[in-house]
Amino acid sequence: MDKKMIFSGVQPSGCVTLGNYIGALKNWVKLQEEYHCMYSVVDLHSITVRQDPEALRERCLSFLALYLACGIDPEKSILFFQSHVTQHAELSWLLSCHTYMGELSRMTQFKDKSAKHEDNINAGLFTYPVLMAADILLYQTDLVPVGADQTQHLELARDIAIRMNHTYGEDTFVVPEGYYAPVGARIMSLQDPTSKMSKSDPNPNGYIWVLDAPEVIAKKIKRAVTDSDGVIAYQEGKHGVNNLLSIYGAVTGQTPQKAAEGFAGQGYGALKTQVAEAVIEELRPVREKYAQIIADKEYLTKVYKDGAEKASALAEKTLEKIQNRLGFVKRG
Ligand code: TYM
Repeated sequence: MDKKMIFSGVQPSGCVTLGNYIGALKNWVKLQEEYHCMYSVVDLHSITVRQDPEALRERCLSFLALYLACGIDPEKSILFFQSHVTQHAELSWLLSCHTYMGELSRMTQFKDKSAKHEDNINAGLFTYPVLMAADILLYQTDLVPVGADQTQHLELARDIAIRMNHTYGEDTFVVPEGYYAPVGARIMSLQDPTSKMSKSDPNPNGYIWVLDAPEVIAKKIKRAVTDSDGVIAYQEGKHGVNNLLSIYGAVTGQTPQKAAEGFAGQGYGALKTQVAEAVIEELRPVREKYAQIIADKEYLTKVYKDGAEKASALAEKTLEKIQNRLGFVKRG
């Protein structure tokens, strides 16, 4: 293949936030021109936390519609639901037999999530990074566009690939690399700017949903926590202001430092107003397109059916290769 392969996904839990949009989706759109891109709604991942089945089904379709509304083009990229391509779960088992308990226990996301869901520390929560490695390695992926919070998971996927290449031949798996947004790889909560903006935040003022109405976006940004020194600068320790500058920079295509220069001499009120305006204008076309796409169930079905068919064909190639190398009898 001439072009490099890209894989990424968002898990359909909570809602798609401005963090997901800036850290991942916005970059996915740009990458479609230059690469073979596979973008999945990684539904299998979402059930590590108990889900209401009807709400999950609806949310999955809504996430797919959002991928399309953000500009992912099914003529250029392959879009699919992870659960429709059964090879993900199959490869995950093969990889889990090459992953150590110690490696999985070190995952910070596992530690965080098991602290939050003490009543449901299931085995899936523990082996989640192996499934994520399977998602990536199944397509012999070169690049994985993600936010900074996925670095540790990606490192594990690389370690598994390298380990299996040593054992079964250096051409077993492509060893993937992370691809991070130049600005905004880690967007922080508006209410607690020392922790990341998260779709599972119980306080909706902490995150912006990409489908929030303009007045809601303006209100949330106005309430964003800053500090008391009143100086707009991108500096160590100024978490809230840095976050607003990162958001502004990511949306307007400049570094947060450069954005800070543009605000010289102004107050936090002006900063918040302009950040809100920029975010509202960035998300306005997404909201409008989303409303059309979500209403067209026939189109959505066609997109995910075609996507799963194409993804399965690619996935099957890798799965058969790995089964073969591991010593299973070839299917007739
Ligand atoms: P998830 O669903 O938590 O997030 C989806 C993508 O959004 C990025 N992201 C952020 N970027 C910047 N600032 C933030 N505050 C922020 N919050 C989230 C994430 O880094 C991610 O890129 N395990 C993954 C889903 C996954 C996956 C994969 C990703 C499953 N298999 C294979 C890539 C390749 C996750 O939970 O992402």
